[in-house]
Amino acid sequence: MMKIQQLAAESVAIVLSGKNLTLVLQALWRQNPLLQSQQRGAIQDIVYGVLRYLGQLEVILNQLVKQPLSDKKLRNLLLVSLYQLYYSESPEYAVVDCAVATTRKLIKNKGAAGLVNAILRNFLRNDTSLLNLANAHEVGRFSHPQWWIDKLRYQYPQQYEAILQANNRHPPMTLRVNRRKTSVADYQTLLSQYKIESRQVWDNALMLFKPVPTQKLPMFEQGYVSIQDAGAQLAAPFLDVSDGMIVLDACAAPGGKSTHLMEAANIQLTVLDNDQYRLGRVSENFKRLGIEPFRQVCGDAALPSSWWSGKLFDRILADVPCSASGVVSRHPDIKWLRRITDLPMFLNMQQNILDALWPLLKSEGKLLYATCSVFIEENCQQVKCFLEKHSDARLLPIVHGEVNNGQLIPNCFHDGFYYALFYKV
Ligand SMILES: C[S@@+](CC[C@H](N)C(=O)[O-])C[C@H]1O[C@@H](n2cnc3c(N)ncnc32)[C@H](O)[C@@H]1O
Repeated sequence: MMKIQQLAAESVAIVLSGKNLTLVLQALWRQNPLLQSQQRGAIQDIVYGVLRYLGQLEVILNQLVKQPLSDKKLRNLLLVSLYQLYYSESPEYAVVDCAVATTRKLIKNKGAAGLVNAILRNFLRNDTSLLNLANAHEVGRFSHPQWWIDKLRYQYPQQYEAILQANNRHPPMTLRVNRRKTSVADYQTLLSQYKIESRQVWDNALMLFKPVPTQKLPMFEQGYVSIQDAGAQLAAPFLDVSDGMIVLDACAAPGGKSTHLMEAANIQLTVLDNDQYRLGRVSENFKRLGIEPFRQVCGDAALPSSWWSGKLFDRILADVPCSASGVVSRHPDIKWLRRITDLPMFLNMQQNILDALWPLLKSEGKLLYATCSVFIEENCQQVKCFLEKHSDARLLPIVHGEVNNGQLIPNCFHDGFYYALFYKV
């Protein structure tokens, strides 16, 4: 367990220094090829868990120390240990002993191991009152930065608590059934033969009762299903593609929505993204599904002159870069790494991309603007601003039971998304 605690604490430290959680763990697996899958699973669980509950763990830790801990290694190791004591099934004595041993190994200061022992044992003696105390602070109760809580409370006075709580849940694993290869009913039967229980969320979306490793999904390599959140699966039906259409997916990587569009109809799809590495993942996804887009190109959606062939599109999907405030349950690092000051940069990029893509759409064509955000600046406010600038744009209604004025609120079945469908007169 020592190695697991140590690597988890180091990974938390790297993420909190500003690095993307997914990339940090990918690098960790590369640097430690001998880690067994169980060890990886344990590290991943701890790092995700610490980031999910960081607000709460920090309030508790601050109560347990007389003065703020300046040694970051010590602090991160304590956060990891507190997470394990409260949220994991590891025996308490093992967590404490291991934390003490890891401290001896990593920290030169002789008193550090004794301090760790005292802090963790103090937590075990007073856990209920410490947790009540954490709950009395908003940051401790919701484990989000205060600015985030304040913004959501202002923008969603009725729903902000539910959104914050949904952000801290384990996200579901949801599959998109490829209707070109099988049906939802048939695939569900196949899953049950493998003892994998599922329920249909909507259309092609099957949510698993318990996540499983991708390799355990029957016929996955043969392209029967893809892994995609149910909220993201709404983009293709909303864009309303049909056979023969010329379509652009302008911010396409890693290709979840592109592949869905190609499963939905025989279209001539141009796949664009400005990140060459991420485009590689689009190619992998298309290959597994046995389909190929008409064209795949690396370029800036806000600068069509560098990649556009000159042929107008019937449909455009603009799944723009955003704060990702709707997908926190999958990426708990986001809430700690984003700054409120990042928003203007995203708003600017979104406006530039929308303005540049609009002239590429045929008259009577449709453009679907999508974000995985719940912040209204990136969503309905951005749409209002676009409509004011473009007199030939009309906003079409999005008809879906759970989508309210384009906004899908995150819950235990799906992430948070925003969709706006523009029609060109
Ligand atoms: C939300 S993700 C897209 C997810 C994708 N549509 C899917 O469903 O799998 C946004 C993508 O936009 C790309 N991007 C960011 N700025 C861009 C730009 N100026 N032009 C084109 N792509 C851009 C990013 O590299 C990223 O892959």
